Amino acid sequence: AAPPATLVIFGATGDLTRRLLVPALANLVRDRLVRDDRFAILGISFEEGDDETLRAHLAEFCTDCGDAFERLKPHIHYLKGDFLDGATYEAVGAKLEEIGFGNAGFYLAVAPNFFGEIAERLAAAGLLEEREDAFRRLLVEKPFGHDLASARALNVRLLAVLDETQIYRIDHFLGKETVQNIMTTRFANNLLEAVWNHRYVDHVQITAAEIVGVEKRGKYYDATGAMRDMVPNHLFQLLAAIGMEPPNSFDAEAVRTEKAKVVEAIRRVKAEEVDKVSARGRYDAGRIGETEVAAYRDEPNVAPDGSTETYVAMKLFVDNWRWAGVPFYLRTGKRLTARDTEIVVAFKPAPYAMFQETDAVRLPPNTMTMQIQPNEGVSMQLSAKKPGPRIAIVPVDLDFSYADHFKVGRSTGYETLLYDMLIGDQTLFQRADMIESGWAAVQPFLDHWASGGGVETYPAGSAGPAGADRLIRDDGREWHAIG
Ligand code: BG6
Repeated sequence: AAPPATLVIFGATGDLTRRLLVPALANLVRDRLVRDDRFAILGISFEEGDDETLRAHLAEFCTDCGDAFERLKPHIHYLKGDFLDGATYEAVGAKLEEIGFGNAGFYLAVAPNFFGEIAERLAAAGLLEEREDAFRRLLVEKPFGHDLASARALNVRLLAVLDETQIYRIDHFLGKETVQNIMTTRFANNLLEAVWNHRYVDHVQITAAEIVGVEKRGKYYDATGAMRDMVPNHLFQLLAAIGMEPPNSFDAEAVRTEKAKVVEAIRRVKAEEVDKVSARGRYDAGRIGETEVAAYRDEPNVAPDGSTETYVAMKLFVDNWRWAGVPFYLRTGKRLTARDTEIVVAFKPAPYAMFQETDAVRLPPNTMTMQIQPNEGVSMQLSAKKPGPRIAIVPVDLDFSYADHFKVGRSTGYETLLYDMLIGDQTLFQRADMIESGWAAVQPFLDHWASGGGVETYPAGSAGPAGADRLIRDDGREWHAIG
């Protein structure tokens, strides 16, 4: 089990805390990875309240947590405080003393403009000083910066008061089992490694398609857009896992170094090429199943005449030995036809020569699909002979589905991340250099779009804008169907 510790949550009454963090902690208690008598939560927010009001507020979303929440409950404390007031930090210090565990993780579940400020104030109050029996760690939610310059500035600010080993930058995709499985699938199967390179791989597709629109997040999303929201963080984590060299071990630095190298190798696109290698769209009114849904411009807190994209597709190259010349097509969007996060590795077709005299017009290329969500699993498409007197070749699937093989308990995806922070394992957290390389790779796109450039529209419930199809078709390829 994890060592005794207090998790101090800034933004304790927000959505993240009650929807994800507390249910995840309850699951850890259930699984005995965290012992309730050696754990405390100290929630901070500017709202009026006391321990009991916070406990009741959190209980509302922990209806499935059962006994585990009940056990955790007496160890939940509340502190009303202004994040910008020194007195708050004195009170946090006093409360930590009173709780009595030296170890503390400070979770910033707050708007990003507070990140630097809170870290500096924690430091000024002496709360970030580590002792042998007291770790002090900072967990930072996304968005980590708004562009390359702001991400760098935030790293500088945090690193002025913390050591890199104390900073846990969260990318919740890394908490997903299927994302963690990419490394095992690649490196525990010798079969794959031999063909996992530019000699055999034709291209890679990374998709994160969502059915949901911007929901109540119009204010954040309209200032952010699909590129910033999903690409330099979540999609690049997938790209890094697919593209990385085998690390020497599971050691956090070994793994993070290999991942960072892949992102660092993403070719910087020139401004004049941006339009050629990307497509942007925003959703119009449409239909999802039976439901009519509104256009993005009519969503609450969205500027109707703005140019924020809700969909982006792009073609990237990873300029290293392994991936020389292999295009990586990335796409993500809201209000699409299905929820589907997946990676498709498409292999070059086998030589056709011996099939010339058969009915086969072409050989379907082999693909390997890693289904991140939903219907988690891995499948491979092979070619087989259709039974009958003639040689007819058809694609068939080899399928592995998580649901068939494992009894997976209910989880939020934050369990591993919180547990790893408590035991001091940074493998699944983003290191400063990787964050900056991620932003550096998308910066030319952001710059180009800031100076104009159109956004297509696509009907809600469709597969995205026409430009995205053109992008890949011009190369003689097709997107894998969404859903
Ligand atoms: C978040 C984005 O980081 O990831 C959201 O801000 C997006 O806009 C979400 O919906 C997707 O995550 P998941 O786990 O639902 O695929």
